[in-house]
Amino acid sequence: MIEELYTKQQVDLRNRARELAENVMRPVAAKYDVAQEYPWEVQKAIKDAGLSGVWIPKEYGGLGGGVLDLCLVVEEFSRACGGMGVGFAVNALGSFPIIISGSDDQKERWLPGIAAGEKLIAFGLSEKMAGSDAGSMVTRAEKDGDSYVLNGEKKWNTGGSVASYNTIFAVTNPERGARGVSAFVVEEGTPGYKIGKHEDKMGIRCVPVVEIHLDNCRVPEANLLGGREGQGFKQAMITLDRARPGVAAQAVGLAQGALDLAMEYTGERQQFGQSVNSFQGIQWMLADMATQIEAARQLVHAAARTIDSGHKNITKISAMCKLMATDVSMKVTTDCVQLFGGYGYCKDYPIEKYMRDAKITQIYEGTNQVQRLVIARKLLREAAGGAS
Ligand code: CAA
Repeated sequence: MIEELYTKQQVDLRNRARELAENVMRPVAAKYDVAQEYPWEVQKAIKDAGLSGVWIPKEYGGLGGGVLDLCLVVEEFSRACGGMGVGFAVNALGSFPIIISGSDDQKERWLPGIAAGEKLIAFGLSEKMAGSDAGSMVTRAEKDGDSYVLNGEKKWNTGGSVASYNTIFAVTNPERGARGVSAFVVEEGTPGYKIGKHEDKMGIRCVPVVEIHLDNCRVPEANLLGGREGQGFKQAMITLDRARPGVAAQAVGLAQGALDLAMEYTGERQQFGQSVNSFQGIQWMLADMATQIEAARQLVHAAARTIDSGHKNITKISAMCKLMATDVSMKVTTDCVQLFGGYGYCKDYPIEKYMRDAKITQIYEGTNQVQRLVIARKLLREAAGGAS
């Protein structure tokens, strides 16, 4: 990182996040991976370090940072543990709809608790039959007096079972397709709001991914985000445009963390009477990986800066950085396992966890096939003379 290219706050955040990742996260990463349990001690350390509200505006108790600030922190956390990286970043995903479209009252109700690290928030868009095709969701929200009654099921809800709030997308007008979707903040403890199946996952095992069951779950009208029905799908898409660089930063952190370990190992490992990193074939792999990681990081930062500048057309660069960084992460973490040879395939070394954690980054917040679709649609529109 060339520090002069970043604000003082960004450099400070990066340093604080790195210290916390090394001192608190790395020592317990394997334990929580095996146990598949949420690391409350890590959550407390993030809270105590004052990092919970990096992306939340100052007037609601946050640090007022942008997407770049968020990415710098997520990269450092993920360098030590990908699960802890996303356990943190998912709070940005869940709270962006409030920041983007909530009323002042709604922001005042929910953001300060998240900024203080007292409350966690999740994001409920996907369903069993509505993954990539998010607009085909069937969870219903029906108006009844001054409240809405929600019925249905949400799937792959990251952090849902530990969150106090969940931003739930539901259909208020089934005749309008994606234009009939609305967003609600549902609070833990609301009757009819239940945590369902806990997924048993390949990676990011310390963060729970659960089903959310909504069974005549009644929420006040005041919880309809933005106060208007039919805005939910756009709110979700605008949120994902802002959140995907966070996944990309998680991927960069994982790749960098894996390369750090591979650099150390290939320096120590002796074969044929010399350290493995003295072979040109290994050196070229290390050079390629470092170059790919830096290219991915720069694209993530370019996307984050574009978003933070307030530019209107952020969809394409956001999708591009998610696509590139997560594909790089999968390749780099796989190659790093290769550099560890037989040891890399065994759980005595932490490297295989990086490869398992990296895989999900190509899948969630839109598969990389969806990212390509989003990029291609924008390219074709630009070619036809429209805005990007
Ligand atoms: N910004 C603003 N508006 C947008 C938009 C954007 N980026 N993208 C689409 N819209 C608007 C369109 O303009 C359109 O509006 P009108 O009806 O007014 O014309 C409307 O939304 C519908 O758009 P499309 O016709 O393009 O929608 P589509 O059905 O073809 O779907 C898609 C597009 C890109 C495939 C979208 O469904 C998508 O992103 N799918 C992936 C969903 C996803 O990322 N899910 C992950 C959820 S989070 C998760 O992984 C779990 C977790 O907890 C971490």
